[in-house]
Parts: sequence; C-alpha cells; structure tokens
Amino acid sequence: MAQALSAQVSLSVRIGSDASTNRATGFKECNNICFNNKSWISTPLGLKAKNVQLKYQFKVQSTSVQQAGKSKVSVTPLELENAKEPPLNLYKPKEPYTATILSVERIVGPKAPGETCHIVIDHGGNVPYWEGQSYGIIPPGENPKKPGTPNTVRLYSIASTRYGDSFDGKTTSLCVRRAVYYDPETGKEDPSKQGICSNFLCDSKPGDKIKITGPSGKIMLLPEDPKATHIMIATGTGVAPFRGYLRRMFMEAVPTYHFGGLAWLFLGVANTDSLLYDDEFNSYLRDYPDNFRYDKALSRQEKNKSGGKMYVQDKIEEYSDEIFKLLDSGAHIYFCGLKGMMPGIQTTLKRVAEERGENWDEKLSQLKKNKQWHVEVY
Ligand code: FAD
Ligand code: A2P
Repeated sequence: MAQALSAQVSLSVRIGSDASTNRATGFKECNNICFNNKSWISTPLGLKAKNVQLKYQFKVQSTSVQQAGKSKVSVTPLELENAKEPPLNLYKPKEPYTATILSVERIVGPKAPGETCHIVIDHGGNVPYWEGQSYGIIPPGENPKKPGTPNTVRLYSIASTRYGDSFDGKTTSLCVRRAVYYDPETGKEDPSKQGICSNFLCDSKPGDKIKITGPSGKIMLLPEDPKATHIMIATGTGVAPFRGYLRRMFMEAVPTYHFGGLAWLFLGVANTDSLLYDDEFNSYLRDYPDNFRYDKALSRQEKNKSGGKMYVQDKIEEYSDEIFKLLDSGAHIYFCGLKGMMPGIQTTLKRVAEERGENWDEKLSQLKKNKQWHVEVY
C-alpha cells in the first residue's frame, strides 16, 4: 500500500549564465533549478542576474511504491486530477486568453542545425490542460495571405505536465523550433520568409503578452492505466508531449498516479547538440532503469546499417522483435514530430511484420481499433 511521507528538501539555485554555454560544456546547474544534480525547471530569463544564489524550499513527497532515495516533487492543486474528461477549447481564436511569457531559453547547442527554444508561459491557472494536449498561439500582426485580417492560430504540443514546470498548475511550457526558409537557389536563409509564429515565440521576452487558445487534442492523452507500456517515437520538437508524460511518471508525486509500467522513448535528432531535454531523460534512466528506456537516433552523426542517415525508424527496426511483442501485449505506441517520418516508419514496420509472417495492414487496423496507435505529426 502506498504511504505518503513528506520531506522538506532545500534546493540550491544559481541563476544567470548563458544556456547554450551550459549545454556546450555539459554544465547543467546554471539557469536551472537542480536537485540531486538534475535540472528540473528553467529559470525565467526575467530573473537573470550573474551568480545569484537563491535557496528554494520545495516540499518533496516520497512514497513507499518508489524505490529508496528517489524523491519526487509534490504538485498542486491536486484538484487538477479530479475531472473525468480533459479540458477542451476553453479559449477560441475569437476570444483567446492573454497570457504572459515567463521565460525563453535556447535549449540546443551551437552545432545544432536550427534553433529550438523552451518557452514557459504563465496562464495563472486559467487555461488548464492534460499531458499530451496542445495550445494554439495567435501571433500578433496581419495575415500576409489575407491582408486586413489577423494572423491565424498555430498549434504547439505542450511540453509540461498539467502542473507546469513550477509544479503549481499555473504555467505551460512549449518546445518550439524556429521555422526558417532557405532559398532553394542560393541555399541561404531568407529572413523575409521566416515562419511567423515560431519566430515570434522564440524572440519573445519575459513579460510579453501572448494570445493562446485551447487546450486541444485527445489523441495523445496518456492512458490512465499506471502499469501500461508506452513506446514513444519522436523527431525533434515531437518530444514535447513525451517530456510531459515522463515528468508525470518519474518526477512528480501525484498521489493518484504511481507509474509502474514501462516508458520507452525513441528520439530522432540531427546530432548531440540537437538533443532535447537529454539531462532529464538521463536522470530517469539512472533512477528508474526498470521503467524507462531511452534510445537516440542521431541522423547527422551516426549511420544506419546500410550506410545512410540514422533515423528513428532504423532504431525501431533494431528493436523490432521487442516492440512487436510489447504491442501484442497491449503497449501503446505514439508518434510525434515530423510528418515525413511516418512513411518511413510504416515501411519499416511492414517489412518487419512480413519477416515475422504477419500481415501489417491487419495488425495496424487492430492497433487502431484497440486505441493503441497514437499519431500527431506536423
Ligand atoms: P509559417 O509562417 O506558418 O510558415 C510556414 C513555413 O513556410 C515555414 O517553414 C516558413 O519558413 C515557410 N515560409 C514562410 N514564408 C514563405 C514564403 N514566402 N515562401 C516559402 N516558404 C515560406 N511546432 C513546434 O515547433 N513545436 C511543437 O511542439 C509543435 N507542435 C505542433 C502540434 C500540432 C498538432 C501541429 C499541427 C503543429 C505543431 N507544430 C509545432 C508546428 C507549428 O504549429 C507551426 O506550424 C510551426 O511553428 C510553423 O509556424 P510559423 O508560423 O513559424 O511558420
Ligand atoms: P535530418 O535533418 O538529418 O535529415 P530536428 O527537427 O531537430 O532537426 O529533428 C528532426 C530529426 O528528424 C532530424 O534528425 C532529421 O534528420 C530527422 N528526419 C528528417 N526527415 C526524416 C524522415 N523522413 N524520417 C525520419 N526522420 C527524419
């Protein structure tokens, strides 16, 4: 039986060094709140001040179902567990909620192609959501395709749990990649054609106002069974919903959710500098080796067995026997990120099924029917 024990743990916080430098050097204390040398939450850039030392008091709850020494962070308000259905479209494009940017942090290293930012938004508890849902963002300005009308809404997967990165149910985090347009002739970036919303988000500053809609989406909701197996396939920012799932499973002390199943993350990015939330994921590997697996495909740094780019589907192929067995026992499989990954993944899974003497089309329709198959690609 789970018994809750409470302990006060004091966290030391150093604020204010450059996030990309931290990443490049592998130093992960600055700009993050750390506990047992793990980075937990980003520090709002608004609080930037060199070498400031603060002491935060977090109430950390550990329960008897957890392994010794692995304390989790208590969250509030626990009423966020009560609803039977997820919140949906509380705010619509005609009447969006105006929230405030708390922090914007570049989370990739200098050798990553492109820029990805972790953005924390303060919604004051007014736009609640569940893990796996998305927010809509309405960038300011006119829609260039329809002058005289406002910009249209863009969807972003939520990268935090319902309690947010500060564990109080008042914030939402997004993982946003700047959409950049390259001139096909010169191969050079064309600043006049950069993506509107992603650039607005990555350029925003603490205190800026932001119009949000939602939350939306039911496909990627985390099934309630705490013993389930979850196979998560992500490319790039597609890791966002999985970060939320994994924080709920391994970081937060939610009295009504004690994860005892298996979570297996496959992440495809360009190179080690492009890895997203890698420190967090590695800490789960260390602390919950029986419940978490983490495999990376570094497309521009590793080769697949045919000498081509190492993509997530190549990693899936490597572990296909285990994956197929887990699916046969009811595992959920999720895909999030690049639309372009799906054809390659389907081809790989079909080939593996044929090698096993199975019919992939029948298997796929069964997985869909059983609600084991979850896809959110863009
Ligand atoms: P837009 O302004 O809409 O431009 C789109 C593309 O066209 C860009 O690549 C831009 O460079 C290019 N372009 C612009 N002008 C021109 C031109 N004149 N000629 C040619 N090309 C041009 N994105 C994330 O980063 N993180 C997420 O977690 C995420 N989650 C999503 C979840 C869902 C369910 C969906 C549907 C999408 C998600 N997206 C996510 C994608 C996101 O919604 C946006 O589509 C993305 O950020 C690009 O929007 P933008 O306004 O920056 O680009
Ligand atoms: P690459 O760009 O080397 O072709 P990010 O958005 O951070 O760049 O990550 C996306 C990752 O997905 C990259 O490693 C990218 O590789 C990879 N990728 C691109 N196209 C596909 C595809 N069709 N299938 C699987 N992975 C892909």
